[in-house]
Amino acid sequence: MALDPSSRSRLTPQQAARFVGDGLFERVARALCAAGKLPRKELYEAWAVARKVRRRLGGAGGRVVDLCAGHGLLGQLLLLLDRAATAAVAVDRVLPPSAALLAGALAEAFPAELGAGRVTRVECPVADFELGPGDLVVALHACGELTDVVLARAAAARARVAVLPCCHDLGSGNQGGLEGWIEDGPLAVDLTRAAWLRAQGYQVWTARIDAAVTPKNRLLMGAWGHV
Ligand SMILES: C[S@@+](CC[C@H](N)C(=O)[O-])C[C@H]1O[C@@H](n2cnc3c(N)ncnc32)[C@H](O)[C@@H]1O
Repeated sequence: MALDPSSRSRLTPQQAARFVGDGLFERVARALCAAGKLPRKELYEAWAVARKVRRRLGGAGGRVVDLCAGHGLLGQLLLLLDRAATAAVAVDRVLPPSAALLAGALAEAFPAELGAGRVTRVECPVADFELGPGDLVVALHACGELTDVVLARAAAARARVAVLPCCHDLGSGNQGGLEGWIEDGPLAVDLTRAAWLRAQGYQVWTARIDAAVTPKNRLLMGAWGHV
């Protein structure tokens, strides 16, 4: 039976045998299974997002900055997928205790790409981390208005940006006056975010990842000045 990609249960060493073959995804999955700490959903989510982001925003060099990173898997996968990227930084107010262990397992499996100081972790609020125009800023499930903070920080630096929002708070989230037409409040919030980003001088792209992995699957991507 296939593994449920939306399961929050941890990948285990026994499950490594379920990921057969020499593909990049299978090799990443086996390394993470061996570490035994990562919720399965995070692997499938980060992989799906990383592939779409690399296709649209990759190839330009610079750092991948994974904000509200948790285990920071998205940044590391982008560094693996995008040969032009130079480093990955995982930024979180409080990094999970297993973040270093998981990064160690991936660095062992991919020493050239993820070893030798190419992956770092910084514990600080998203508002305090300095960004530059060469960065590729990503945030997977930055809860509620944290997604707006990420977009604002990235836009202030004119950095490439990609967010997969979650936990929309309709009390405080900006629905852009669209409530009269759009009954789906979280969709109105995300449309307003896309319009806001465009108004900052960004070209905007939208996509979805497979809803079987997460129902919060709207991906918003932007690059400054590509309009
Ligand atoms: C839902 S988790 C997502 C983690 C990871 N991106 C993922 O998708 O698995 C949200 C993360 O945001 C972090 N966080 C919350 N407020 C923050 C802030 N002000 N600055 C930086 N990180 C923050 C939390 O510690 C948590 O790890």
